[in-house]
Amino acid sequence: MDASMSAGERAKKASAERALCFVEDGMRLGLGTGSTAAWLVKLLGERTRQGGFEITCVPTSTRTADLAQECGLKITTLDEAGWLDLTIDGADEFDPDLSLIKGGGGALLQEKIVATASDKMIVITDPSKEVPQLGAFPLPVEIVKFGWETTKAIVEEMLESADVAGRQATLRLNRDEPFVTDEGHYIIDLHLRRIGSPAKLSALLNRIPGVVENGIFVNIADAIVIGLEDGGARVIPEIENESPTKPESAKTRRKREDDDSDQNLFDDIV
Ligand code: 5RP
Repeated sequence: MDASMSAGERAKKASAERALCFVEDGMRLGLGTGSTAAWLVKLLGERTRQGGFEITCVPTSTRTADLAQECGLKITTLDEAGWLDLTIDGADEFDPDLSLIKGGGGALLQEKIVATASDKMIVITDPSKEVPQLGAFPLPVEIVKFGWETTKAIVEEMLESADVAGRQATLRLNRDEPFVTDEGHYIIDLHLRRIGSPAKLSALLNRIPGVVENGIFVNIADAIVIGLEDGGARVIPEIENESPTKPESAKTRRKREDDDSDQNLFDDIV
């Protein structure tokens, strides 16, 4: 155990180490953003330097791209790669259904694009991110700059009839200026305290014209790796071999649910 590291960092590193077991030679891999994902990038760099192991990586932010390059990883764009075998990323919260809140680091848009363009997504976390119900962590929503105050007001109005416990939206700042994402947008953080139906809320947010994307990830994660401060890790769902395949993968489930009619999605708010 590395005593020079905080317990939180040890847990993050442990989750990244465990997730490395799912990465195979030749893979096209999506790289997440954040402090836990940074551990993964560093460890992948070490493994690549040891030789006999080559992967092509698609980073989800300029920060991750810079780090991946420093670590000697081969990076490309999503358009070049086309489709990915696996994405490994962090999260701000996860619930028992493997639904997530992401975007604390401001990269939710690219993170969602990359994760949904992957056969599988594995989330690397620590025990502090586990919640019975999403919503304690403020939900990041990426919005266009044009008319942002009006968009924020429309989001707050929509929240009046949504199944949430709080309704306040705040513009994310970087020092005294609005935080600007890699794609040139703003982020508003929604202080909801409890999200009754993550899938419905995500759909409601995304139909507001000024909203680009939100940080709710439903039916995207296939497995969560929870790093522990003693260097161990727990994986959910529990798996017997190294394949994080559930009876039905998140990708298959997403497709099936898209094919099903979602005509009742807005029933409780109209
Ligand atoms: C960035 C994210 C991160 O995955 C999330 O914020 C977790 O970060 P960290 O690993 O630093 O706790 O969604 O947009």
